[in-house]
This record gives sequence, structure tokens and C-alpha cells, in this order.
Amino acid sequence: MKVLVTGGAGFIGGNYALEMVKKYPEDEMVVLDALTYAGNLETLESIMEEPNFKFVKGDIRNRDFIYNLFENEQFDVVINFAAESHVDRSIEEPDIFVSTNVMGVQVLLDACRKYNVKRFHQVSTDEVYGDLPLDRPDLLFHEDTPIHASSPYSASKASADLLVLAYHRTFGLPVTISRCSNNYGPYHFPEKLIPLIISRALNDESLPVYGEGKNVRDWLYVTDHCKAIDLIVRKGKVGEVYNIGGHNEKSNLEVVKTILKYLNKPESLIQFVKDRPGHDLRYAMDPTKIQTELGWQPEYDFDSGIKATIDWYLTHKDWWEHIINGEYQAYYEKMYGNR
Ligand SMILES: NC(=O)c1ccc[n+]([C@@H]2O[C@H](COP(=O)([O-])OP(=O)(O)OC[C@H]3O[C@@H](n4cnc5c(N)ncnc54)[C@H](O)[C@@H]3O)[C@@H](O)[C@H]2O)c1
Repeated sequence: MKVLVTGGAGFIGGNYALEMVKKYPEDEMVVLDALTYAGNLETLESIMEEPNFKFVKGDIRNRDFIYNLFENEQFDVVINFAAESHVDRSIEEPDIFVSTNVMGVQVLLDACRKYNVKRFHQVSTDEVYGDLPLDRPDLLFHEDTPIHASSPYSASKASADLLVLAYHRTFGLPVTISRCSNNYGPYHFPEKLIPLIISRALNDESLPVYGEGKNVRDWLYVTDHCKAIDLIVRKGKVGEVYNIGGHNEKSNLEVVKTILKYLNKPESLIQFVKDRPGHDLRYAMDPTKIQTELGWQPEYDFDSGIKATIDWYLTHKDWWEHIINGEYQAYYEKMYGNR
């Protein structure tokens, strides 16, 4: 099987590529990534020379380039992780979110139709469902919860989901969608909450927390997400949406305090800052469908996952320090400049 992984130099796509290249040596994997500020080729360093792996730099919005790639490679499966993924950036600059997360997905869908790809999998998010009240812990997002996006980011992801389902209904394209809760773990870009707090706390810098830190997220360790996607791609039913989450709801303040405790740093580093506009209150997933139909179970709860994550950041300082000092952007030139 030949698999295209788009956005594979990012956080989740990178973890997916690292795990699946080793797990399925009989498959061929091509990672395509535009290497935006969020893409980091250093993440893929350990698999770069694997015989079943290839990296291609390119933009999912470039139709000619994408058609050419599909023509040459004849992919069986396409898994789309490529996206602009940071809510705060979508509030500052919505255009690129529509351009990549919607129009880029349309280019991929057209390419899948044209070159008879057997499965297109869209990596989506719980944020398409909007938010839930803080005082109703009984409420969860189900696959049939109406789409009710709050930010330009989640609206662009929701639009992509609608397009993907429309290509299935109208053109019979074999698609699946997964909607996952917040991920954390190794190779997470240090602009997102958990790696931001770990890296800043290690440097004894102040830790910005929005509002009063009461917003609740449902955290899932990244490799549990990757395993779920792999199951859906191999065994999931075409045309279906699968929710992924591990029932690990935590307020932002709880997350920050847990990290401080593990690192033995004082809570006085916490600095409450003005809240994000339109900030979603609470996300919580019901993963019953993927558990009962596909037998998926997460390996990590929040305690074991956060410990593994902190340990990783402590032992991989080079990786995140290169991001903070900008060195990671020179890596592509170093690796590919003379090829
Ligand atoms: N991080 C989470 O908690 C989370 C949760 C649920 C779903 N998701 C979804 O999972 C996917 C991956 O998220 P992530 O956290 O790894 O994001 P990320 O920002 O770390 O990675 C995105 C990758 O896509 C690449 N990219 C961006 N625009 C591109 C383009 N036009 N063409 C080709 N490549 C491009 C970037 O270079 C980067 O490597 C996204 O679709 C996101 O919506 C993320």
C-alpha cells in the first residue's frame, strides 16, 4: 500500500509518520509538507533514510503540483493532517485558514477523484462542534452533534468536513473523518499550551493563562490519536465520522499546575492574561463509536501521558530550543539544499 501523509512535518502527522513507517515496513509512505512555521523536518530525522519513506516539500493548495505528485506516485491512501492549526493565529489572520484548511482540502479531494485513491482520510477536530457549558459534565460531543464552530480555525475545519462528506455523497469518493480532542505529547510546537508551559517553566519564565484558566479541554496523548487514525484507515467504514477522545477533561489551570508540580516550579510563575475572544468553554468527546466498532482504547491516561511528555521535553531540549531560536528553519536547507 502506498500512503500519502500530508502535514507530516507537524506535530500529529510527524508522530504518525514516525510510528507507522516502522510498524508497516511493507507499505510505502510519502510525507508532503509545505514546511510553514509549524513544520519541522527535524521531527522526521530518524526515518529520513528508511527505504519505505520519502519526504516531499510542497503545498496542498498547488493544484498542478499535487496532480503531478498523484500521477507519479499513484497513492492508495491519502491522510490529510496538513492545516493551519492555531486558534490564536486564526483570529489574527483568518485568510490563510480558509485557503489551506478549505481550498487545500478541495485540491486533495479532486486529486483523489482524478487518480482513483482508495481512501481519503481527513484529520478533523472536536472544535467543529463548538463548546459545551462548564456546569453540565453530563454533556458530551457525539458524531451527530450539530456543527457549531466558534473560531475561524474551527469554522475552516468544519467547512472542510462538509466538503469531504459532500465528495462522498456526490461523487462516491471513499472518505472517512476523525474528530479528535486536544492532543499533547512529543514534537508539539511550543506555541500550544502544554509545550509552551513546559518550555517556559524550565526557563523560569512567566506562564500566560487565559482568563481565569477555567476553560476545559479533553486531553489525548498523541500516539493514541495516531493509533485511532490507523484503525479507521484500515478498518473504518467509508462515509463515516469517528470521534476520538479519552475522557481526560482538565481545566487549563489544572494542566498548568500539574506541569509545575512535576517540574518542581512555583505557582507564582502563573500570569493570568486577557481572555481569547470567543474562547470555547469546554470540549468533551464521546468515543463510544470507535471503541465499540473498531475496538480502539487509549493506552495513556492524563497522568501517565503528561509524565511521558515532560520527560520527552527534558530529554529533547535541542528539538524545542531550535524552534525557539529559529534554527529549525535552516534544517531543510541543510538536508536538501545541495540535492
Ligand atoms: N493539535 C491538536 O490538538 C489537534 C486536535 C485535533 C485535530 N487536530 C488536527 O490535526 C491536524 C494536525 O494538527 P497538528 O497539531 O499536528 O498541526 P501542526 O500545525 O503542528 O502541523 C500542521 C502541518 O501542516 C503543514 N502545512 C500547513 N499548511 C500546509 C499546506 N498548505 N500544504 C502542506 N502542508 C501544510 C505545516 O507545515 C505543519 O507541518 C490538523 O488538521 C488539526 O486541525 C489537531
